[in-house]
Amino acid sequence: MAKAKKPVARSGAKRAAKTTSAKKSRSARVAAPPKVASGELVTLLDLMRYAVSRFTEAGVVFAHGTTDPVAEAAFIVCEALHLHPDQFEMFAAARVTAHEGRRILALIEQRIATRKPAAYLVNKAYMRGLPFYVDQRVIVPRSFIGELLEQHFGGVAEDDSAALIDDPFAVGRVLDLCTGSGCLAILASRAFPNATVDAVDLSGVALAVAARNVADYGLEDRVSLYQGDLFDAVGTERYDIIITNPPYVDAQGMADLPRECRHEPALAFDGGDDGIVLVRRILDQAKDHLTVDGGLLCEIGRGREVVEDAYPDLPLLWLDTEESEGEVFWITADAL
Ligand SMILES: C[S@@+](CC[C@H](N)C(=O)[O-])C[C@H]1O[C@@H](n2cnc3c(N)ncnc32)[C@H](O)[C@@H]1O
Repeated sequence: MAKAKKPVARSGAKRAAKTTSAKKSRSARVAAPPKVASGELVTLLDLMRYAVSRFTEAGVVFAHGTTDPVAEAAFIVCEALHLHPDQFEMFAAARVTAHEGRRILALIEQRIATRKPAAYLVNKAYMRGLPFYVDQRVIVPRSFIGELLEQHFGGVAEDDSAALIDDPFAVGRVLDLCTGSGCLAILASRAFPNATVDAVDLSGVALAVAARNVADYGLEDRVSLYQGDLFDAVGTERYDIIITNPPYVDAQGMADLPRECRHEPALAFDGGDDGIVLVRRILDQAKDHLTVDGGLLCEIGRGREVVEDAYPDLPLLWLDTEESEGEVFWITADAL
């Protein structure tokens, strides 16, 4: 079922700016929030513009589903008003009530003062336009695998020649290793409508969040959650497709994590000294858990060179997304 076909390169794909920082030098210290007089900020657009200025002055880091201050500001304004981020434009010129305005200003100042990712402040993150509950028990979802499921595995791809499997409807079993909030398991259940999905995490508290999301999507009969250490959690089971976004930050990256990421579970980042301690275990064991026609889709961040040095003979197919280049590979069972 799995095809080792080269996907069409996407033009304009650029190196991901995973951690975009507004100019930090402007303020080492965050001053008390400026007073905003009544009537100064009237519309959603006014409040978004104000948030962009405040985030930039304060040197806030964006790495949690938004990659710049404009998207972050729109997310916060929309969440405070119970709007989907896609609805911002439609309501940009609408006025907010005094109560709504205060709520938005409070969120802006909380974001700056605590450096918590905005997703934790509103307990929500979007992936491929779908909302997921999040709190500090799980990393904020931002995996590139969501987009790749759509582009190369039969989701909403416009280009058939980019498909890496013959028939998404024929996929019977999927494993999501390192599931965190369960976001990728849930997206996989949509990409492969006839599949059951097993989702594994070492963290019991992360699985509690995943269970909430699975229930929110009414997928209890299709997505099963298991606690354990990688493949140990599933015994000798085999799958048509394994997806995984494991921890892959190396020791230097862990030491340099921005303040925002320090609010997230370290277990979700820590990939050991060279960053690929878990990736190695996954690559070494995946064949024993794949059907003969199966394949493994694995995100590894910036560790491509380290992985290629460690596995020079493996024909890894590197996949690009809108905001990443070569941070996820695909490999078929027969090539492992
Ligand atoms: C980068 S996060 C990915 C979460 C989610 N799949 C996503 O994309 O948002 C990695 C996850 O792996 C889990 N994890 C870490 N070590 C693990 C292990 N040895 N076995 C299973 N899960 C592990 C962490 O608890 C964390 O939830």
